[in-house]
Amino acid sequence: MKLTLNGEAREFDVPDDMPLLWAIREAAGLTGTKFGCGAGLCGACTVHLDGVAVRSCQTPVSAAEGAEVTTIEGLHPEGRHPLQLAWISAQVPQCGYCQSGQIMQAAALLASNPAPTREDIVSHMGGNICRCMTYDRILAAIETAAG
Ligand code: FES
Ligand code: FES
Repeated sequence: MKLTLNGEAREFDVPDDMPLLWAIREAAGLTGTKFGCGAGLCGACTVHLDGVAVRSCQTPVSAAEGAEVTTIEGLHPEGRHPLQLAWISAQVPQCGYCQSGQIMQAAALLASNPAPTREDIVSHMGGNICRCMTYDRILAAIETAAG
């Protein structure tokens, strides 16, 4: 399986139907992307596939053949994407488990809509669950980054 992972051409000897999440975590050793529900219901596993936010637990690695995959580790070379800076400034995370998925979901929004309304943000982020209830700070950080 050949794909571009965080800007680097990579090749993985894995079954076609392996979830992209496991290729990222187990084959590539990038553990920033999290396993939450494994059923497309929480967003913890969100990565970008050719710039679109996808649930990597529900995406077979074969769907990424020849594509560009970006994980939280590749969002910015120094971890200084505007969302990451806003996240730090707002001290968004509590346990942190959902947060890479939240940021990747938000980054896809800002890439396609740099000036979203609050309603746009709420609608786009609605499928990303946070058990620690950091939603208010997530929304504030996205608005800061968009501004
Ligand atoms: S782990 Fe993929 S959506 Fe929950
Ligand atoms: S910060 Fe704990 S689940 Fe979101």
